[in-house]
Amino acid sequence: MKISIIGSGYVGLVSGACFADLGHSVVCLDKDKTKIKSLSQGKSSIYEPGLDEILKRNIQSKRLSFTTSYKIACQADLLILCIDTPAKKSGEPNLTNLKLSLKSISAELRKEIFIVTKSTVPIGTNEYIKNFIENSTSFKANIISNPEFLKEGSAVQDFFYPSRIVIGCESNASRKAMKELYAPLKLPNKKFIYMKVQSAELTKYASNSFLATKISFINKISQIAEYANADIHEIKRGIGSDSRIGNEFLNAGLGYGGSCFPKDIKALINFEKKFQIDHSLFSAVEAINNQQFTLFYKKIIDAMGQKRLKHSSFMIWGISFKPNTNDVRDSIALRLIHRLADQVKHLYLYDPEALRESFVHLNQYNNITYCKNAYEHMQSSNALILCTEWLEFKNPEMNMLNRLKDKKIFDGRNFLDKEIIIKAGIQYFGLGR
Ligand code: UGA
Repeated sequence: MKISIIGSGYVGLVSGACFADLGHSVVCLDKDKTKIKSLSQGKSSIYEPGLDEILKRNIQSKRLSFTTSYKIACQADLLILCIDTPAKKSGEPNLTNLKLSLKSISAELRKEIFIVTKSTVPIGTNEYIKNFIENSTSFKANIISNPEFLKEGSAVQDFFYPSRIVIGCESNASRKAMKELYAPLKLPNKKFIYMKVQSAELTKYASNSFLATKISFINKISQIAEYANADIHEIKRGIGSDSRIGNEFLNAGLGYGGSCFPKDIKALINFEKKFQIDHSLFSAVEAINNQQFTLFYKKIIDAMGQKRLKHSSFMIWGISFKPNTNDVRDSIALRLIHRLADQVKHLYLYDPEALRESFVHLNQYNNITYCKNAYEHMQSSNALILCTEWLEFKNPEMNMLNRLKDKKIFDGRNFLDKEIIIKAGIQYFGLGR
């Protein structure tokens, strides 16, 4: 199939490269000329395991190309919209980029088209897309909502082995087009879930908000665990073994960040407010997520002493919003760094992939050093703060940790082995344990 991806950000780039790998002829469009230039040379700015090889392979075989031209993109049989929809201050998704893109599409469209929306969009947006295209051109627009469930850090794996493919569409022709698009994956029929367009739009929000709720749920239990002298790790095992609950997304810690959960929870609350639906559930999810940050910050202040803080230096491990990505959008680590930077003597930052990305957000501070490895400057730091659970932090070199001046570790992801650390004579502070 000839397809074009409109918007070569995270979802667009991964989807485009993987659809090309399945044998489709793919053009990825983006308005950012510099990005398109480097992507055409096989250079991607995102760190995603497995993606670079797929990009190179498919550029070489000429199944994958990049453009800034809507004229070229609109020659495809099927357009896949992967435009970002960031949250406005009010929490409402900002559709400005999507609308600009629709304008450019309608200016270049020369035939009936299938328009697949992968961007996370408010309920009713696909209907808007259809009306916009059909009112501004003389061509029919077959709209399909096909929400994306890829997780950063395992996006390639998720693409080739999806849990399900949700398809919201109105016609048999659209169904047929989607079957053809996904046919090379050879998935069993039960993986395809067809529904109304509006249901598919809401399924995306429901899915992300359920996972965010699960995280806030375990975080709330972790707050109670601290008062009960219980251990949240043990509780996770105790409840997660019930198959109705499940183990995943039950890790208590600093809370959820990234470009999806915070934005999607805000969008749902905004939708509820608009229709005067009670919004207490998702407002509580958001509030608990903020509480975790405040609690962790308070633990650091209490343990170090407010007065000593300005004379203290910290080593910080992990800046990306989760491991295996260099994405720092809405990263809780960055939030903590902003909160601490003005109050402490020095911050030493280390992340296996996201140092360059974080620099632009932190260049106003002159008391930050970016480290080449996890242990550089350990001896200059009073304490260590772990914000992102990269695998390389799992079994730290204890003799190096022992160089910390105050022998204190604040583990924002409950990731390290508490017993080993305590045995080494280092104080351990987690969340809910
Ligand atoms: C999320 C969803 O998991 C994907 O299915 C969805 O496609 C994507 O959003 C999207 O809407 O595009 P992602 O944001 O890449 O994926 O990352 P997650 O793995 O879901 O993690 C989100 C945040 O939750 C991270 O900050 C992570 O540290 C945090 N988290 C996750 C926890 O605090 N505890 C957990 O147990 C799990």
